[in-house]
Amino acid sequence: MEKKKIEGFEHIRYERPQLSQEEMIQRSEHFYQEMDQRRTVREFDPRPVPLEVMENIILTASTAPSGAHKQPWTFCLISDPSIKKKIRDAAEEEEKISYSTRMPENWKADLKPLGTNWEKPFLEEAPYLI
Ligand SMILES: Cc1cc2nc3c(=O)[nH]c(=O)nc-3n(C[C@H](O)[C@H](O)[C@H](O)COP(=O)(O)O)c2cc1C
Repeated sequence: MEKKKIEGFEHIRYERPQLSQEEMIQRSEHFYQEMDQRRTVREFDPRPVPLEVMENIILTASTAPSGAHKQPWTFCLISDPSIKKKIRDAAEEEEKISYSTRMPENWKADLKPLGTNWEKPFLEEAPYLI
């Protein structure tokens, strides 16, 4: 594999796999089916999750592309119930203001079928917050 070196960076050449048209279509369909399983989660299982799993999730998030590869982020992993409560209280305070004064009626109408409101009990129920 040929690599181009630029001041501290090493470019990795992308080798396009040799696949038949049929296999490309099949793989893209499979990828779509998998991605279509993703859902917004609004209720969380309180059972514990190994810390290693959380670390791997954060490592996965850190693979996201960023401008000039500056990775301008900090991830905080929270399991302390008193901090989770503080976050819930702060989020609910803001959400109460949003629902009562910030959101126009059509926005609230769009949210209605989802059954969500200012309450965020999941912020205390989930074993971890990131
Ligand atoms: C920018 C953005 C804002 C969202 N705002 C809310 C929200 O205020 N309340 C809520 O319950 N879900 C919210 N969602 C989740 C969407 O309702 C959800 O993605 C959509 O209904 C499709 O469902 P799915 O994610 O399960 O496929 C938001 C999603 C995005 C991307």
